[in-house]
Parts: sequence; structure tokens; C-alpha cells
Amino acid sequence: MRTKIVAGNWKMNKTYQETKALVKELKHAVKEISLDNTRVIIAPTFVNLQKASKMTKSSAIEVAAQNMHQEANGAYTGEISAQMLKSVYVDTVILGHSERREYFGESDELLASKVDAALANDLEVIFCFGEVLEDRKSGNHFKVVESQIKNALFHLESGAWSKIILAYEPVWAIGTGETATPDQAQEMHAFIRELVAERYLSDVSEEVSILYGGSVKPGNAEEIFSKNDVDGGLIGGAALNVDDFSAIIKAI
Ligand code: 13P
Repeated sequence: MRTKIVAGNWKMNKTYQETKALVKELKHAVKEISLDNTRVIIAPTFVNLQKASKMTKSSAIEVAAQNMHQEANGAYTGEISAQMLKSVYVDTVILGHSERREYFGESDELLASKVDAALANDLEVIFCFGEVLEDRKSGNHFKVVESQIKNALFHLESGAWSKIILAYEPVWAIGTGETATPDQAQEMHAFIRELVAERYLSDVSEEVSILYGGSVKPGNAEEIFSKNDVDGGLIGGAALNVDDFSAIIKAI
């Protein structure tokens, strides 16, 4: 059975003090939820990862980074490497988020090298991709998603896929309040699973968790998560308060 995952991408939100407060609240809330085959992950900012990972050590909550550099170390001012993440007990990293692609010019090629560096350091990757509105309107969305996945991931051996989580995040649905309909999400997720099945054996495609992200809220989570190929969510805004995030976890 595929693992269900609810992951909160905190983006550039929460100070150290606010991080401590929210993690504390989340720990209490998550304790009360029965997590049947479900992982709960939070991704605070770099400066707060160590504190969050210490605070969640004995809880069901896991901590992920939002990005990393592809090199091990060196003259890359402002960057953080895979080894540095591992050294503060972070085992998962989000790569390829549309905000990284758009504002920081991250290409498929660069992302392929980040994925390799993450896997070489035994980090699990939540790999994000998704089309912009024009692609959806022109019917190009499947092609765009296909090339994003192929270019960054299809050089991997099938064994590496046990460390890959896919996250479909249509850019037009991120932070806009507009969500893909559950049917649109299911259609794309089924397409992605088929794509993976064509390249690898079906045990890879059947095992890989595919998350949906883009304006998931307590009010729409249950319906989106009910779809066959939707294995959970990557949550932005609604991950920033304990009530909404716990309601979304319960919805799965
Ligand atoms: P929102 O849930 O705020 O739309 O953000 C989604 C997202 O980008 C998660 O990575």
C-alpha cells in the first residue's frame, strides 16, 4: 500500500520563536490523530530546521528542508548542502518548487543535479513540478509535466525511486485560492503514474506517492485526497496554523 503523506511547506514564514510555538502546537495536535499509514512532514526555513528537528525527535512529525545546493561545499555564498542538512538530522528535501523555478531560475538540468546530490547523501526528495496557467489553457499541461519529470528524474535507476516523492503543484493554484478540481488532480496524477510505469516497472509506479499541492484547505482536502492516485498533499498557507493543518491531516 502506498504511503500517504501530508507535508507542510512553510516557505519564507515564521521566525525562530514562531517556529517553536507552531511545532509545539503541532506536536500536541498530531498526538491526538490516528496516523494510519500516513506521514506528516513540515518544512520550516533553513535557520529553524535544527530546532524543529530536535523538537520533533520523539514525535511522528518529520522535518524537511525547502531547498539545497547541489555541491558538497565551497564558495557558494548563501547556500546549504545536503551534508549540512543531514548533520542536523534532516532526511528529506523539497526540490523543484515552482517558486524556485520562477524566482531563482532553477532549470530541469540543475534540478537533476540537485536530485542526484540529495540521493547520494541519502536524502529523500519531494520533487515538485506543475504547469502555469497558459499551459493549462492551451492544453499543454501534460506535455509540460512530462518533460519536467523526464528531464529531472528519468536518468535515475529504479532503485532510487524508493527515495522519491512526487508533488504535482499546478502553478495557477498555488497561493491563489483556486484549486485544481479533484478530477483534474486525479487525471494528472494518473497520467504521471502511467508515465513512471512506462519508464520503470509497475512496482515503481505503484509505490511512488504522488502529492497534490495548490490551495489545499480543510474544506477541500477530503475530496481531493479521496481520489485514487492522490496520495496526499503539499500544503502552503494552510500549513501555517495548527487548526487548518491538523484538519487536513485528519482529512486523509
Ligand atoms: P498553497 O497551499 O499556499 O497554495 O501553496 C502550495 C505550495 O506551494 C506548497 O508547496
